[in-house]
Amino acid sequence: MIGSDIQHAMELLQQEQVVAIPTETVYGLAGNAFSPLAVSTIYAVKGRPAFDPLIVHTSRFERAAAFTTRIPDMAYRLAERFMPGPLTLLLPRSEAIPDIVTAGLPRVAIRVPGHPVAHDLLERLDFPLAAPSANPFGYISPTTAQHVESQLGDKVPYILDGGPCQVGVESTIVGFGDGQAVVYRKGGLAVEEIEAVVGAVSVRAHSSSNPQAPGMLKSHYAPRVPLVLGELRALHEQYRGKAVGVVAFRQALPGIPLQQQLILSPSGGLAEAARNLFAGMRYLDGLPLDVIIAELLPEEGLGRAINDRLRRAAAR
Ligand code: TXA
Ligand code: MG
Repeated sequence: MIGSDIQHAMELLQQEQVVAIPTETVYGLAGNAFSPLAVSTIYAVKGRPAFDPLIVHTSRFERAAAFTTRIPDMAYRLAERFMPGPLTLLLPRSEAIPDIVTAGLPRVAIRVPGHPVAHDLLERLDFPLAAPSANPFGYISPTTAQHVESQLGDKVPYILDGGPCQVGVESTIVGFGDGQAVVYRKGGLAVEEIEAVVGAVSVRAHSSSNPQAPGMLKSHYAPRVPLVLGELRALHEQYRGKAVGVVAFRQALPGIPLQQQLILSPSGGLAEAARNLFAGMRYLDGLPLDVIIAELLPEEGLGRAINDRLRRAAAR
């Protein structure tokens, strides 16, 4: 059921049940992070492998001191500047966080969402919320309550509606090593913004079967319709005679019905493109298409996070 009753969401969470919640990045599937029962329900509902850990959400970074044993100076500086916001910090975990949340890893992922509904909910609860994106494992992340309803509606007792997500791609994940910040997932906070605060970062958002941030699996965000990347006109030529969907940055491709085309941002805005990406990919994936052809965006700012999602969507 979809609704906007924060009190009801609180009661379910207090009973160790799971609730889908809005954040500014994507919707999350939340449960009491201190409750192994609630957390195991999250893994079950999402169909997520147990080796892939969950982010712990809290209303204020100060509250996170109890979840970690050490906060490097760089982490404080990033938290001060970007929290609440689309940033997740990997910090050494304390005993307060159960093994099942971090999949046994030595660090815990901490995020302070900027969405007012999420903030209000977290502020009123006396425990943090573990939450992955509220999609079945491997599929496109949800950016509206309806997206969650259409895929997990029968498995989640309540979906707290906070409207469409304003950022549209997941948080940027940052850890620390050898005196340098390390980006493990490119997301809604641009790498350039992080570098402006802590200096040069290394980006290790690669894919492997046993990664540091396992959500970085090579194939992810995958629509059912095969998605191929490249130069749109050449791809259109290659798939002539097929039912083709298009993901374009600014301009529609001539010769294909407009309702089969996702134009991410006619004005060329990367934030707007990020906001439109996942909903648009879902829309195209619901059409009777043979293939979706997509072009990469400029490799800068949020374009880097968008390109990362498109590359993973194309990987099979
Ligand atoms: O924007 C977001 O971050 C959204 C909203 C709901 O907050 N959440 C999200 O969660 O994207 P999820 O589970 O779909 O992706 C979290 C990523 C995964 O790649 C996971 O492996 C990584 O964070 N991660 C979580 N805890 C970790 C840990 N302790 N050590 C390393 N990686 C971790
Ligand atoms: Mg996810």
